[in-house]
Amino acid sequence: MCGIVGYTGSHEAQALLMDGLRRLEYRGYDSAGVAVQSAEEPVQVEKQLGKLAELRAALEARPLGGTAGIGHTRWATHGRPSQANAHPHTGGGERFAIVHNGIIENYRALRHELESAGVAFQSETDSEVLAHLIARAYQGDLARAVRQALKQAEGSYAVAAICADEPGVIAGARHGSPLVLGRAPHGFFLGSDVLAFIGETSEACYLNDGDSFRMDAAGCEILRADGTSVVPEFHTVTVSAEQAEKEGHPHFMLKEIHQQPDVIRHLLAAYVADEQDAIDFPDIRGLEDRLDGIQRVVFVACGTAWHAAMVGKYLLEQWSGLPVSVELASEFRYRHTVLDGSVLVVAVSQSGETADTLEAARKAAQAGAALLAIVNVPGSTLDREAHGAIRLLAGPEIGVASTKAYTAQIVAITLFALYMGRRRGALSAEQLAEWIRALDALPGQVERALSDKAQIEAVAAEPICRTASHAMFIGRGYNYPSALEGALKLKEISYIHVEGYAAGEMKHGPIALVTDHIPVVAIAVQDEGVYGKTRSNIEELRARGGVILAIGTEGDTSLKEIAQAFIGIPACPAELSPVLVAIPLQLFAYYVACMLGHDVDQPRNLAKSVTVE
Ligand code: M6R
Repeated sequence: MCGIVGYTGSHEAQALLMDGLRRLEYRGYDSAGVAVQSAEEPVQVEKQLGKLAELRAALEARPLGGTAGIGHTRWATHGRPSQANAHPHTGGGERFAIVHNGIIENYRALRHELESAGVAFQSETDSEVLAHLIARAYQGDLARAVRQALKQAEGSYAVAAICADEPGVIAGARHGSPLVLGRAPHGFFLGSDVLAFIGETSEACYLNDGDSFRMDAAGCEILRADGTSVVPEFHTVTVSAEQAEKEGHPHFMLKEIHQQPDVIRHLLAAYVADEQDAIDFPDIRGLEDRLDGIQRVVFVACGTAWHAAMVGKYLLEQWSGLPVSVELASEFRYRHTVLDGSVLVVAVSQSGETADTLEAARKAAQAGAALLAIVNVPGSTLDREAHGAIRLLAGPEIGVASTKAYTAQIVAITLFALYMGRRRGALSAEQLAEWIRALDALPGQVERALSDKAQIEAVAAEPICRTASHAMFIGRGYNYPSALEGALKLKEISYIHVEGYAAGEMKHGPIALVTDHIPVVAIAVQDEGVYGKTRSNIEELRARGGVILAIGTEGDTSLKEIAQAFIGIPACPAELSPVLVAIPLQLFAYYVACMLGHDVDQPRNLAKSVTVE
């Protein structure tokens, strides 16, 4: 949700800012801009509507020279995407430029007040008020002016500013939106995440909420919310520049789909101790003592992470005997929830920066609940604020449609459910060992599922799929969440109207929609539980002309017979099948979107990391 980058040092800033914006573009891509300064040229701004390529072309025609600057790639909240609404915004007769990620909730009142004092606004954004407030507060010290200005702002922000009067100085702050500083041999960086500068340095320092900073070519300092000044502590991050590239794949989404076998291998290697057939999470030690007193588990998450949590509910209830609920973080945070020290809240998030999930997690921690994060981005706000964390170790996920983080979330939650089952004595050592053996087979099975790519591409190319305006996904049990996730994946990148349903719910209403124009993706893997029921639901749809694309267990000829198309996944215990089912669902969405000519990595209206409400 908007990407911020900044640099001050001995190198030319423009190229470094553009490289950072290229890696941050997944955070927002409706417009982009940079502001660069040098001793000769105070504050020069270039900004363009559209993807980064537009800004790149403008800068090729009119390069900005200077060794300090800030940049921004936008996901519009206030004010439509336009050149005027793109960041950086300027104030004080163009002597100040700012970039902002977040929402200034009281911007109307602030704007009214500034306009009454004669300030002319150039944009419709909430962010522009910050440029004018900083200009008004300025008395020769940019960092101080930023802090003064932000005292008036309500809402969330990561903000960075430059000023013509202080060449080489960047000042800023964070409250509710992420910001990380970077240290390179030739200067200092700032970014919404480490990808902003990973091509130049892997030394990073994450800011806390309430922190403000000042940096120039010679150094960098942080002021905590209570006014204490601290020297930033830089840590080496493990993300590499290559991980943020497509590495030969046409899209990040396809690259990330193919990384899944290795991601699962890493997870199992990290958390399963071979010799003892035991599960160990090194980063939940601070929580371990509390786990035995837990009487209830509540998952909070959004989007795809919420679907992974739903799989977790089935598994945790089954293996640990604990009651489990799964909450949409955006609802949970405003509900009158009943929480206390006997509740374990598990916040699931790829980015660890999703505003709703963070606030839900904070609410839980404040109410005394134990807070566990299942998170991909190390050092993210959720990772740092939770009492314990299980990291997904999946590397950067850049495609807006979540793929490898989803299956990693399911595997991590599966391990956690087994761990809790064993800890509570509900699972025997033998049962745990058996499940670990089944998990060990998963990476190879995912590879097999991936090898069916051509067949899935052929199904996606069928006229019923390519031309559909509506589609449905159905599943039961562990694969009810798979139906929801398959539907989300297809709708977010193909723009087809898709709904996911619990198969048993079809006859309570949705079956009225079934015609021979609507493809129904039906998930029915063989197991001892609900397979027969799902098959009956499929027959009911067929009897009404439904066009069935079935995902089932390899060799299930009877399912194949009642479907127009059949995609098989390797046989595995039903409990683990959502991981394998995810592969054809992801590939199907990917191929349909490609055939429709959509930008699968940067679908319209979306951004990767939703850091605003
Ligand atoms: O970073 P998070 O896992 O917290 O993100 C949650 C959702 O915004 C995310 O899963 C979103 O639904 C994806 N676009 C789905 O592909």
